[in-house]
Amino acid sequence: MALFITFEGGEGSGKSTQARLLLQRLEGEHIPAVLTHEPGGTALGTELRRALKAKQGARISPRAELLLFAASRAQLIDDLIRPALQEGKVVICDRFTHSTVGYQGYGRGLDLALVQTANSIATENLRPDLTILLDITPERGLTRRPSLEDRFELEDLSFHHRVREGYLKMAEAEPDRWLVIDASLPKDKVSEIIWTRVSRLLASSASLRGV
Ligand code: TMP
Repeated sequence: MALFITFEGGEGSGKSTQARLLLQRLEGEHIPAVLTHEPGGTALGTELRRALKAKQGARISPRAELLLFAASRAQLIDDLIRPALQEGKVVICDRFTHSTVGYQGYGRGLDLALVQTANSIATENLRPDLTILLDITPERGLTRRPSLEDRFELEDLSFHHRVREGYLKMAEAEPDRWLVIDASLPKDKVSEIIWTRVSRLLASSASLRGV
C-alpha cells in the first residue's frame, strides 16, 4: 500500500524518534515499510550530510547549500523512495522538501520561488501524502539537544524562529496534507496521534483501491 509520509520539525522536536516508532508500528501490523532520512540515506547523501552539517568545514553559501540538499534528495528519490513506493511500501522520510523551504527559504532568506524550483528538480514533483510537523518552540527544542554540534543547531534563535514560522505557514496553507502536533506532549501521546491519522489514511487508500 504505497504511501509517502514525511516528518518535519525544528531541532529537538523528536521527529526522528517518532519516525522510528511509526516504522515499528507498521512492521507490527505487517505492513511493508521503510524509513529513511535527509540529508543522507544513500552513499552520496551521507557524504553531503557530513559536509552540510560540519561546523568547521568549508564555507557553504546559501545557494550552494540549497543545491546540496537538492542533490542529496534527488539521489535518495532515485535510489530508494521511488523504487519502494513502486513496490507498494509505506515510505517514511525524516525531513524532505519542506525542510528546504523552512531552512533555506524562511531561515536563510532565499527566494521561495527559487527554493521551489530546486525542490521540483530534485523530486520531479513527487509529493508526500502526509507531512507530520512536530511543532516546538526553538527555546525548548534546542535545550533538548545534549550538545549543539552542527551548522544549523548553532544558528541564532531568530533563525530557528523563522524556520518554525515557515513550517506553520506551510501547514496552514495545506491542512489536508499536514498533521501538526505539539511536540511538547508526552512521547506516547504523540505517537498515538500519529498512528490514528496514519491508520485512517491506510484504510482510506485501501478502500479506494477496493481492497
Ligand atoms: P537532522 O535531520 O539530523 O536534524 O539534520 C539535518 C539538518 O539539516 C537540520 O538542521 C535541518 C537541515 N536541513 C536543511 O537545512 N534543509 C534541508 O532541506 C534538510 C533536509 C535539512
